[in-house]
Amino acid sequence: MIDDDLRRRVAQHRWYHTMELAPGLVTHGWFDLRADVHRYGLPERMDGVRALDVGTWDGFWAFEMERRGAQVVALDLDYERELDWPPRRRPTAYSADPRGAGFALAHEILGSRVERVVRSIYDATPDDLGTFDWVLCGSVLIHLRDQLLALERIASLCRGTFVSAEEYHRGLGLLPLPVSRYQADRDRAVVFWQPSARTWRRMLWSAGFDRVERRARFDMHAGEGERTFTVRHQILHGIKAAAAPGAT
Ligand SMILES: C[S@@+](CC[C@H](N)C(=O)[O-])C[C@H]1O[C@@H](n2cnc3c(N)ncnc32)[C@H](O)[C@@H]1O
Repeated sequence: MIDDDLRRRVAQHRWYHTMELAPGLVTHGWFDLRADVHRYGLPERMDGVRALDVGTWDGFWAFEMERRGAQVVALDLDYERELDWPPRRRPTAYSADPRGAGFALAHEILGSRVERVVRSIYDATPDDLGTFDWVLCGSVLIHLRDQLLALERIASLCRGTFVSAEEYHRGLGLLPLPVSRYQADRDRAVVFWQPSARTWRRMLWSAGFDRVERRARFDMHAGEGERTFTVRHQILHGIKAAAAPGAT
């Protein structure tokens, strides 16, 4: 039963993800990924599967994997100031709202059992989190200063399939070399390095994924009204040679 207070809190919150939390109760998020879910190559059912969502924000992917039957851990940080920033742009103060506020509200309404862990992917290790059959990391690496360290951590946490969904630089794909564009001084969303599609594949391999398969490329649409934009995305699956049978 969704009472008026919960509806009011949903309406007042500024959401990153559009999610249907109950019949007719939909968050108005900046990103509506629902039409693109089939591109990520998740199994229809994930019963008995342990899954990790890296950089969950409001939890769209964590709740989607839970809906398919997985036992899910979701990682994120709570304050923008703790994210990677070029020094000239780093916020000096902590914001009033923790990033996990929307996740907590959605978690309550969905009656979810996803465990949200406040931890940077840089500090996430199998010693305290264990390992996972599926690891999904969407639109996180593109914002990180050390993409390869994050990928190395993901590889150590993943005993099955890694689903990577990241923006890539289309123009650089014309070059026959694995290259990234340095973007730290632009004044939009923080991006230090924007790899070409080929470079992302090589980076997954460098981090320890022996088989890297491209599942999709598509334009992700975001925003609303006059402030809409598209982000070119590539979905890769990374699998280690020692991955359990059944990994795609
Ligand atoms: C652009 S959002 C993507 C949200 C979601 N993964 C998706 O695919 O829609 C990036 C998320 O990564 C988180 N993030 C950034 N740096 C991180 C880090 N070092 N460790 C864990 N999460 C991080 C941010 O707080 C934010 O929730």
